[in-house]
Amino acid sequence: MAIRLLPETTANRIAAGEVVERPAAVVKELVENALDAGATRIAVTLEGGGTLRVLVEDDGHGMGPADLELAVERHATSKLPEEALLFRIATLGFRGEALPSIGAVARLTITTRPAGGDAHGLTVEGGRKAAVKPAAGAPGTRVEMRDLFYAVPARRKFLKSPRAEAEAAIEAVRRLALAWPEVGFRLQSDGREVLALPPAARDARIAALLGTDFAAAALPVAAEGADGLVLSGQAAQPAYTRATAGEQHLVVNRRPVRDQVLRVALRVAYRDLITVGRHPVAALFLDLPPEAVDVNVHPMKTELRFRDEPAVRGLLISALRRSLAAGAGHALPSPALTQYRPSPGGWSGWSRPPPAPVPARSGLAELQLALAPPPSAPAAPLPLGFAPEPAPEPPPADQPLGRPLGQLLETYILAEAPDGALVLVDQHAAHERLTHEALRGQLVEGGVRAQPLLLPAVVELPPADCARLLGFAEPLARLGLELEGFGPGAVLVRALPALLGPADPAPLLRDLAEEIAEFDAALALERRLDAAIARLACHGSVRAGRRLTAPEMAALLRQMEATPRAATCSHGRPTFLRLGPAELERLFGRR
Ligand SMILES: Nc1ncnc2c1ncn2[C@@H]1O[C@H](COP(=O)(O)OP(=O)(O)OP(=O)(O)O)[C@@H](O)[C@H]1O
Ligand SMILES: [Mg+2]
Repeated sequence: MAIRLLPETTANRIAAGEVVERPAAVVKELVENALDAGATRIAVTLEGGGTLRVLVEDDGHGMGPADLELAVERHATSKLPEEALLFRIATLGFRGEALPSIGAVARLTITTRPAGGDAHGLTVEGGRKAAVKPAAGAPGTRVEMRDLFYAVPARRKFLKSPRAEAEAAIEAVRRLALAWPEVGFRLQSDGREVLALPPAARDARIAALLGTDFAAAALPVAAEGADGLVLSGQAAQPAYTRATAGEQHLVVNRRPVRDQVLRVALRVAYRDLITVGRHPVAALFLDLPPEAVDVNVHPMKTELRFRDEPAVRGLLISALRRSLAAGAGHALPSPALTQYRPSPGGWSGWSRPPPAPVPARSGLAELQLALAPPPSAPAAPLPLGFAPEPAPEPPPADQPLGRPLGQLLETYILAEAPDGALVLVDQHAAHERLTHEALRGQLVEGGVRAQPLLLPAVVELPPADCARLLGFAEPLARLGLELEGFGPGAVLVRALPALLGPADPAPLLRDLAEEIAEFDAALALERRLDAAIARLACHGSVRAGRRLTAPEMAALLRQMEATPRAATCSHGRPTFLRLGPAELERLFGRR
């Protein structure tokens, strides 16, 4: 068989697959073009989820007939005057790929009119271009795509239902609308208006897109880093979470991106503040000099590479942590807790007090109870005919945290203190602190006791994480964690700190690798070890959401009493709260 060059239209159809994999990609490319053309209003119309028709109309600067002719040629772009500028891309488009790619796999009609000029139209069908003709139209550009993949039926098989395709296309417009609040957007899908966003200030646009609930829970985020890095935006308080990471928005130089760096930074900043399996919500905007970021690493331009990734990650994490710490005072009723209200309109939820240092034992942390008016008195008299149970002994005075009464939400231990106070203990925070202190004690005494694994565990990790962990293997061995290299993408775990019990090494190592990645070069070894200990402690501790037996609860309380610094967890939050008899009286209006 002879090797031959592919006819150009075939080659274009193959290449088009990378840029145009589904209607959402077409919508994204066309809206980006409108934004690059300086549009102030953009209207998107979808039919059949965009598979039958996508129409994007803008009021941007339009094109003259010669430019229109060129616009559908591959690698024809007005946006890259010189090759050297590839590293300083300030527009959303730069490849000159989108229009020819769409024209190669669908029917494309462009009508455009520049300011002060006449309107012209051009059609490309399955890669075949017709001549540019005079047309009628308002200033700006109207790009219509019909019958996606009619020219490559095999690709149609990969399309999802029209509804799923419409959702993806709407999401693409939402993300761009978040990055461009000063531009008005409208989106109709099968005749239904889905988005109607007038030009707005950024905060108003965020609220319009992420919802007023998010806006009410949002904390401002702002920071500046070296080399012209500027971060701004909003992140939700930890009580406001989602089941997926889908509402984590990062806009880099006005380009919405899906980026690992943001995902990791959010995970690190919110660690231990939110329940496992829930995800923080944020809309963050990063601006940096164009040469500090490479956008040309992905055919869809949804990923990018920061030239100094650690700097970006560090800035994100520190800014988020600062916002969360500042916001911890304005507590928000947690949806997870309010779900358990005993009666509608009764309790309006416990709110978390600010993370003020709680003095050990004698600590009277303020517990704010927002109480609605009490429910009306029960009509029936209380049944008094039950057999009396022997009253339990009062807790001894040398047990200031008292006797466990029960567990609330599988998260908090309720106890009765010797002086009659109600004590609430956060089981995970408390146990984490105890584990942390015990590990630290063993380290000081010559090394954390290791428990060799019967069968060494193989944990697969990205090669960079493996390298980080192995680079820190010696100090980790002092913490009872014995690791060995196992090819480029895995490590062998030979032993774990005995205190952790049967912990799953995979999430532990992932977490530690993350921690090590954040080590600041200036950090002393001791500080690094302590940070690593905090991570180990977190993994080795009782989670929120585990039922505890009465003896387990009592054991935890007794250990807390015996441990200095047990009143705050490793992250500085209180491990327990006390509601004393006087406060109870005040809350019930007895005094
Ligand atoms: N809505 C529009 N208004 C004005 N000019 C446009 C519009 N859409 C496209 N163009 C012109 O057509 C050219 C080709 O567009 P196309 O999207 O194919 O490439 P690009 O935007 O330069 O790069 P990329 O492939 O990265 O999107 C653009 O460079 C621009 O000059
Ligand atoms: Mg483009």
